Amino acid sequence: MSVPTYDALRAPFARALASARVACRTRRVLASAWLAAFVVNVAAPLPAAAKTPTPKPALDASALAAPDRYSADTAQQIFAAGGNAVDAAVAMAFTLAVTRPDAGNLGGGGFMTLLVDGKPYFLDYRERAPQQATRDMYLDDKGNVVPGMSIVGHRAVAVPGTVDGMWQAQRRFGKLKWNQVLAPAIHYATDGFQVDPRLQQRRDAAAKNFSGKTNFDAYFANLKAGATLRQPELAQTLGRIASDGGREFYEGRTAGMIVAQMYGHGLITNRDLSQYKAVWREPLAADWHGYRVITAPPPSSGGIGLIQMLKMRADLQPAFEGLALNSAPYIQLIAQIEDRVFADRQRYIGDPDAAPVSVAKLTDDAYLAQRAAEVKVEEAPAAAPVTPGSDGAAAAEKAQTTHFSVIDKWGNAVSNTYTLNGDFGSGVVVDGGGFLLNDAMDDFVIKPTGAADTELNTIGPGRRPISSMTPTLLLKDGKIALAIGTPGGSRILTTIFQVMTNLYDFNLSPTDALAAMRFHHQLLPQKTIYFEPYHPAPEELATQLKALGYTVEQQSFNGDVQMIRVDGTTPEPASDPRGAGVARVIR
Ligand code: DON
Repeated sequence: MSVPTYDALRAPFARALASARVACRTRRVLASAWLAAFVVNVAAPLPAAAKTPTPKPALDASALAAPDRYSADTAQQIFAAGGNAVDAAVAMAFTLAVTRPDAGNLGGGGFMTLLVDGKPYFLDYRERAPQQATRDMYLDDKGNVVPGMSIVGHRAVAVPGTVDGMWQAQRRFGKLKWNQVLAPAIHYATDGFQVDPRLQQRRDAAAKNFSGKTNFDAYFANLKAGATLRQPELAQTLGRIASDGGREFYEGRTAGMIVAQMYGHGLITNRDLSQYKAVWREPLAADWHGYRVITAPPPSSGGIGLIQMLKMRADLQPAFEGLALNSAPYIQLIAQIEDRVFADRQRYIGDPDAAPVSVAKLTDDAYLAQRAAEVKVEEAPAAAPVTPGSDGAAAAEKAQTTHFSVIDKWGNAVSNTYTLNGDFGSGVVVDGGGFLLNDAMDDFVIKPTGAADTELNTIGPGRRPISSMTPTLLLKDGKIALAIGTPGGSRILTTIFQVMTNLYDFNLSPTDALAAMRFHHQLLPQKTIYFEPYHPAPEELATQLKALGYTVEQQSFNGDVQMIRVDGTTPEPASDPRGAGVARVIR
């Protein structure tokens, strides 16, 4: 591909934003700030803006829900420059790789669910195990798990997918030039951004785990609330990717830096990187309440789980009739549905390219009606209906994944969730590259027992670990009606389910649907309901749940949902009040 230099990539922004200045006063202020950051050394001719003819707008406006203000500003600028939802999404992902180093990433992976020109798509850019990875690589001679090995340091790192995912999405559907969508991220890496106090809190917690084991402090010791964080090596990496294309990360100088970082410590080779390709998969689709749900297929467990929850909840409507939202009997019914979802998840889901997953059976109406019929309204929860394995079911909540939703005025939509997995991933920063690497290997079953429940998600060369990430779209008559997603590990699907049912069963507004109390339950630990500081369980509710046989626990985090509902032709974005997100309508 022929590409202009990094300096040249500033030019298209200059022109697009200059015309935006004419458009309206507000935009003029934003554009001026942007130009101040970008208009230096403009030298090369402008690349053509549009790859495809622009259809008539289908919506009143574009909209976004972003986890921080920098990624929101980026999307706004991309729209001002004539980009579509895919351009905005890719630009947001690269920006978050700079401004949310705990979660946004180049060195991780994720999933993107898209609606483009009325057709749904799903892009799997999940990390893969290196070719040298083995089933027992985290066990010692006695077969015991070596503590921390799959979480911290080089051996926890799986082959990253984010850059190829963004490259493929933007090349297939974007309207702007590739280097234009990288420009905002390069700006934030070069000139810096102001650190949010919550980001420093997460850094401080993570740094304790990495202390003495990785090079994390060499890069992030100066991440302090209120200070400006500049990341010059990351800016150079982004500049190389901008000028040479997404494969630079896998085959160019950046790939060499990753392999050098791994040398003697980790498993990733040049071959692992050059062989990595994000995969376009058929999204899961199901009918629910007159909508078409478009969601994540395996290796995500989230789409299957979400469809199971929605359908079982609908099957059990007579039992839910008259129950108040989040009352004790309501939670009891949902918890029993969740037992069944997590039992199936544990046993039946893995990398679909390694072994087939029975998606049709697991989301089949008759199967789910039969599972729903096992739920007993009047009883405390039964023991697990499908025996779970011992791994992963009671995973601690983490905040280090992030989600954004974006819709353009042409009716295209992107719901994107991506992750480093744990707190700032493995804590390993690529020397010279300035970006963190994931610890996604920990999403595999680390200690297989040989029981069916632990087999599908064991480690094997090139395999993808299962995930809970569930970027989801809802369509009404083929048009976008909702884009939604959240971080939260296994809480992702229960959170999205709750917000969707708040919206469509209880008719709450988007803001109220997000602000409502949330709880989490999964098969293990049995009979445990988790609440969160944002909206703790009222004492009376906790007492009632205990009387029903549940243990009530507090967790520190239950999601950071970014969603956009479309009411007719009007987008209504909403950001979770639990986080630092920004919701914006862009006319
Ligand atoms: O893919 C997964 O399901 C996990 N690696 C996601 C971790 C996560 O969401 C943590 N954050 N909130």
